[in-house]
Amino acid sequence: MTSISVSSSSAATVKADALVIGVVKGPKGLVLAPGSDDVAKAFGKGLLPALTGLGATGKADEVTRVATLGATKAAVVVAVGLGNQAKAYDAEVLRRAAGSAVRALAGTTSVALALPTGDAASLRAIAEGSLLGAYAFTTYRTTSLADHKAPVAALTVITGLGRDAKPVVRRAEVVAAAVKLARDLVNTPPSDLHPIELAAVAADTAQRVGLTVEVLDEKALKKGAFGGILGVGQGSANPPRLVHLSHKGKGAKTKVALVGKGITFDSGGISIKPAAGMEDMKSDMGGAAAVIATMSAVAELGLAIDVEAWVPMAENMPSGTAIRPSDVLTMRGGTKVEVNNTDAEGRLILGDAIARACEDSPDYVLDAATLTGAQLVALGARTSAVMSNDDGFREQVVSAAGVAGEAMWGMPLPADLRSALDSEVADMVNTGPRDGGMLTAGLFLKEFVADGVKWSHLDIAGPAYNTGAPYGYTHTGGTGAAVRTFVQLLEELAG
Ligand code: BES
Ligand code: MN
Ligand code: ZN
Repeated sequence: MTSISVSSSSAATVKADALVIGVVKGPKGLVLAPGSDDVAKAFGKGLLPALTGLGATGKADEVTRVATLGATKAAVVVAVGLGNQAKAYDAEVLRRAAGSAVRALAGTTSVALALPTGDAASLRAIAEGSLLGAYAFTTYRTTSLADHKAPVAALTVITGLGRDAKPVVRRAEVVAAAVKLARDLVNTPPSDLHPIELAAVAADTAQRVGLTVEVLDEKALKKGAFGGILGVGQGSANPPRLVHLSHKGKGAKTKVALVGKGITFDSGGISIKPAAGMEDMKSDMGGAAAVIATMSAVAELGLAIDVEAWVPMAENMPSGTAIRPSDVLTMRGGTKVEVNNTDAEGRLILGDAIARACEDSPDYVLDAATLTGAQLVALGARTSAVMSNDDGFREQVVSAAGVAGEAMWGMPLPADLRSALDSEVADMVNTGPRDGGMLTAGLFLKEFVADGVKWSHLDIAGPAYNTGAPYGYTHTGGTGAAVRTFVQLLEELAG
């Protein structure tokens, strides 16, 4: 893991291989951002012309390198764009800029950041962005390992915030470590992360941070009548699991349940997916990864709130033992579901887990799931959807996401779409029509939420997995989507 420390020393003399400063688009051209004064002084007015000459414009996330030739202790200055000049810079702008700079500096051992840290929110964003930018998934590289530059090993954030800085950076470290765990899990090939192995990682993580853990195997699932999890899992040689992690907060007044979709690979089952893009379905446990990772952060931060995580895990495969379209499954709690499409498997395992979570009467239930392709159609690859049975709670989730720097948008659960899930033979079908597919998936889940429980559902199908080029602090592959929002929200609910 990359280390991070804070320093109040001058950027010009701080010990680091490279130094990151901010540049912005002013009304009359390039301007140096606050935090860079000492560096500018060390250059004796030469810095701005040099950066301009190198083509820097201040555009967000643009990275420009200058050799310092002895002007500062660091050999290189890296100017990162923060966009248009402003009185204060948006936290997410800073988070992304720090991430872009640190990502561009892969191969460098130590990096100091002299970006605007006027307040705790800015410092937090810079600490998070730089830590999240310093990431690479290299577990499966041997002969190609040397061709890939290693992430920055040591970060120093220069700030004038004094003793207030330490706890801010410590929180950023915990959150970034959690995001890294979620990314690593998503990036791990499904041949090495079946439900058994995913459950083992959850259990190991729980032990490391001091959470209680219980793993329900196929025998326990049968005993507990978890027909959705068992049904989806029955086509695979790798049996399903349900993991229960528990955090008891000191003086907790609120109880929250987290549920995360853990399909370790989604082939579609008998309703098999087309080959193109099927490899992306290793990411179908992104919700489970986010929940496991969030629980580790909750424990490490010692949040004063009770959090129970229920994480269903299964592999969705076609085989002679797989569920067929038209099979009926009896879910936890007794609801009978006619499976009209085996590729709508996420809601089947989540329905069981949500029902189980509600049996302990939590105040809130939150689930995260790579649930529908319709989410990508509606909101694109970078914005998650939030659906809820309570307007206020939905807005609270969206607002926490804003603070955490994750793009999320509220979506409705229109009651008139519910009839699309009516079945000719059972209580419900699992799949509605193509139109409104994200919303009918949400409406399906809502059926398993107990009365009086506030529930929000996060469809993170696109945001959990970046199939495109890296940007800001986001790398290609697993992103750790929902972790930062969950931690932020749980802190707020803890009060
Ligand atoms: N895991 C997929 C959803 C998904 C799609 C996640 C793309 C990430 C990227 C889910 O299990 C699925 O297959 N959903 C179907 C539902 C349909 C059969 C109603 C879909 O969206 O096509
Ligand atoms: Mn599917
Ligand atoms: Zn799926």
